[in-house]
Amino acid sequence: MAHAQLLVFLVPMAFFLKLATPVDGAMAMPGCPDKCGDVAIPYPFGIGENCSAINLNSYFNLMCNGTFHPPRPQIREPEAHIEVTGISLERGEMRVLSPVNHICFTSNTTSTKSSGVGYDLSKTPFLPSPSRNRFTVIGCNTLGLITGYRGASGQYVTGCYSYCEGINSTSDGAPCAGMGCCEASIPANLTAFAVTFDLNHSKVWTFNPCFYSVVSEVGWYNFKKQDLVGHLGFIKDRAQNGVPIVADWAIRNGSCPEKGEKEPSSYACVSANSYCTAVINSPGYLCNCSEGYGGNPYLSDGCQGSAITQIYLNFVTY
Ligand SMILES: *[C@@H]1O[C@H](CO)[C@@H](O)[C@H](O)[C@H]1NC(C)=O
Ligand SMILES: *[C@@H]1O[C@H](CO)[C@@H](O)[C@H](O)[C@H]1NC(C)=O
Ligand SMILES: *[C@@H]1O[C@H](CO)[C@@H](O)[C@H](O)[C@H]1NC(C)=O
Ligand SMILES: *[C@@H]1O[C@H](CO)[C@@H](O)[C@H](O)[C@H]1NC(C)=O
Ligand SMILES: *[C@@H]1O[C@H](CO)[C@@H](O)[C@H](O)[C@H]1NC(C)=O
Ligand SMILES: *[C@@H]1O[C@H](CO)[C@@H](O)[C@H](O)[C@H]1NC(C)=O
Ligand SMILES: *[C@@H]1O[C@H](CO)[C@@H](O)[C@H](O)[C@H]1NC(C)=O
Ligand SMILES: *[C@@H]1O[C@H](CO)[C@@H](O)[C@H](O)[C@H]1NC(C)=O
Repeated sequence: MAHAQLLVFLVPMAFFLKLATPVDGAMAMPGCPDKCGDVAIPYPFGIGENCSAINLNSYFNLMCNGTFHPPRPQIREPEAHIEVTGISLERGEMRVLSPVNHICFTSNTTSTKSSGVGYDLSKTPFLPSPSRNRFTVIGCNTLGLITGYRGASGQYVTGCYSYCEGINSTSDGAPCAGMGCCEASIPANLTAFAVTFDLNHSKVWTFNPCFYSVVSEVGWYNFKKQDLVGHLGFIKDRAQNGVPIVADWAIRNGSCPEKGEKEPSSYACVSANSYCTAVINSPGYLCNCSEGYGGNPYLSDGCQGSAITQIYLNFVTY
């Protein structure tokens, strides 16, 4: 299979997960909703163009989708409904839910079309966090691949191979080291990526009809023998709404001013008692409240005295 073709499947980013998120009105732009359903939406994110920092990036404008009860925030994309389950200002992270890439065999020679999950993030403030995500492949006798682009560094391909002779040659809770599942780390600056398969191993279809591959949050996946069994069994049992990915977000088109240098015109760290920090996973910067202050450095007077330092969102980790 030609790697170049894989990126044809590129669709925008993905889905959600529940987080305990203490909410404070000071986190949103004044007069704007500070949450959508159970998810807190701190500025520069917001619901609607007048409530978000669209001058910095249009993707800060989230949609609150009221067809769900409670409503769920989604990234505005015409072709994909990517659910946001949490946003952390302090960590510069956002958690979204992504669909699972899969291919299933219905006989030793026929397979379903690979579902081809992929993202082009180049115009967004988001990149998959290299430290907080892994690429995981689930199946017997399958090579899963992740292909993409790393900004100016060009094309990127990695993957891993998983093998098992039968379901009973694997065991629940085993590390993803190649028996039933395998994993690979992902690099920084991965501005576009797609996940897929590159082997025809129709001989295992009788006991392992489907292969899966995902980029997901470290610690989310633990191997179960049952994941190998049944048509789309893993998705039905464990990933109905998608799998969590942690995206690093940042103010991408600018950098922290050097000492004594003039602040750029659209400088995002507008609160008194705030400062700018460069990010490592890509170009750009984030803002933070100075020591002893807490709140939202992206809003004027957003950083307040220590009494409210605890309003930072709890970004639950697995
Ligand atoms: C945003 O604000 C402008 C100017 O106040 C107003 O004309 C426009 O209708 C607002 N847009 C929305 C979606 O509320
Ligand atoms: C950042 O990009 C937005 C939209 O592309 C633009 O309106 C804004 O002026 C840019 N800011 C800087 C500092 O380049
Ligand atoms: C709300 O989400 C559902 C499911 O993802 C989607 O089908 C629907 O189009 C979304 N609503 C809007 C207004 O985009
Ligand atoms: C903000 O400061 C806190 C406390 O020092 C630190 O844990 C956090 O990583 C900082 N966040 C950013 C985006 O610099
Ligand atoms: C598929 O199965 C049929 C009948 O069981 C067998 O004749 C054929 O050789 C198999 N093909 C492959 C590629 O294994
Ligand atoms: C798998 O291999 C068989 C026989 O070698 C072939 O007929 C079939 O088209 C292949 N399937 C895919 C998805 O490449
Ligand atoms: C796997 O092991 C279980 C429990 O020991 C047994 O019931 C089952 O028949 C075995 N399956 C196969 C395919 O060997
Ligand atoms: C990511 O890209 C930025 C600029 O685009 C570069 O400065 C940085 O070194 C890159 N980081 C890695 C780990 O490649």
